[in-house]
Amino acid sequence: MTASKKTAGLAGVIAGQTALCKVGGEGAGLSYRGYDIYDLCDYAGFEEVAFLLMVGHLPNRSELDGYITKLKSLRGLPDAVKQVLEIVPANAHPMDVLRSGVSILGNLEPEEDFANQQSVADRLLACLPSMLLYWHRFHADGKRIDVETDDDSVSGHFLHMLHGKPPAELHRKSLDTTLILYAEHEFNASTFTARIIAGTLSDFHSAVCGAIGALRGPLHGGANEAAMELIQKFSSPEEAIKGVIGMLERKEKIMGFGHRVYTTSDPRNSVNKKMAGVLADEAGDTHLYANSEAIEKVMWDEKKIFANADFFAATVYHFMGIPTYLFTPIFVCSRITGWSAHIMEQRADNKLIRPAADYIGPGLQTYVRIEDRR
Ligand code: ACO
Repeated sequence: MTASKKTAGLAGVIAGQTALCKVGGEGAGLSYRGYDIYDLCDYAGFEEVAFLLMVGHLPNRSELDGYITKLKSLRGLPDAVKQVLEIVPANAHPMDVLRSGVSILGNLEPEEDFANQQSVADRLLACLPSMLLYWHRFHADGKRIDVETDDDSVSGHFLHMLHGKPPAELHRKSLDTTLILYAEHEFNASTFTARIIAGTLSDFHSAVCGAIGALRGPLHGGANEAAMELIQKFSSPEEAIKGVIGMLERKEKIMGFGHRVYTTSDPRNSVNKKMAGVLADEAGDTHLYANSEAIEKVMWDEKKIFANADFFAATVYHFMGIPTYLFTPIFVCSRITGWSAHIMEQRADNKLIRPAADYIGPGLQTYVRIEDRR
């Protein structure tokens, strides 16, 4: 079989099987282990979804309570991790901070045995927000914050550490919903990276570090930050429309739009858009939400390209006072669940992932010794 332009970037190639997530199809067009994401957003919390993805079924009340208590007990950071976070420069990219945090944790608390994989996953899910916000608050405010808050949920814990007080329920619930929407998405680039690393029988932390690196790029998770920068550039919807048309004429990409798998809409967008509208009203927004809607409309009118999960997530985060450079790391705090479930699924029926390439270089050459070369 030879590669062609058709399979560039492995587009449309079935690269394996998964029971975790279906992208496209009935209902919302996105389901986790058979549950429609719209039902999960309406009725479940992020911890319930994390349990569903990793353990394999919806938890009953006592399983969920036990899981929440367990995650709360795993939020603390070893002193050595705090020391590393303090010496990482204030102007470092927070995705690099998380990648380094996971890496150092892998040295301090290595995965001794694959039998402990669920414990490693739970530890990372519980302490990634602690790492991120310990680093952020240390460098932004000069404070060594307590990373063990009383909040039950990951979303409450995150916003409490960020703002130094428990969040309003509207904000907590909105963040929680975005965590559910970001939790899992089949063989996306970062998840596939994690599976490739897991497929070599490497350790859990290495697979997660690789996944964070893949998610960092603007063609993947980094799009939410780029989307906010774009939305904020314009002072009115009219200016936004003009600006975006100009960018399209210059063949620039508009971040937060388009998708490799979906063709007409991203099912996560309608949920994010609704939340963005509510939060914009609450914040007394004068133009950002209107700019976002105008950009969404002009992208569809001009190119038939739709907003993906990242576009309105950016506005949601903005209106709850989250600095733009923390947007993509929030994605990590959520997607750790999907990555972990995929690492476990890969290991359960492992086969080294090693495709082949079409060689397009020169034919066999005669080697010329260095002293004889011109
Ligand atoms: N802005 C402008 N044009 C676009 C966009 C966009 N956001 N997305 C796709 N297009 C155009 C391309 O220029 C290309 O046009 P052409 O055929 O005239 O050259 C065509 O649509 C196909 O686009 P590709 O980039 O080849 O499609 P691919 O499937 O490889 O890429 C991707 C999908 C990477 C998501 C792309 O749509 C993109 O770059 N979007 C912006 C980045 C982004 O928002 N990423 C987040 C993805 S979702 C997530 O990670 C949660």
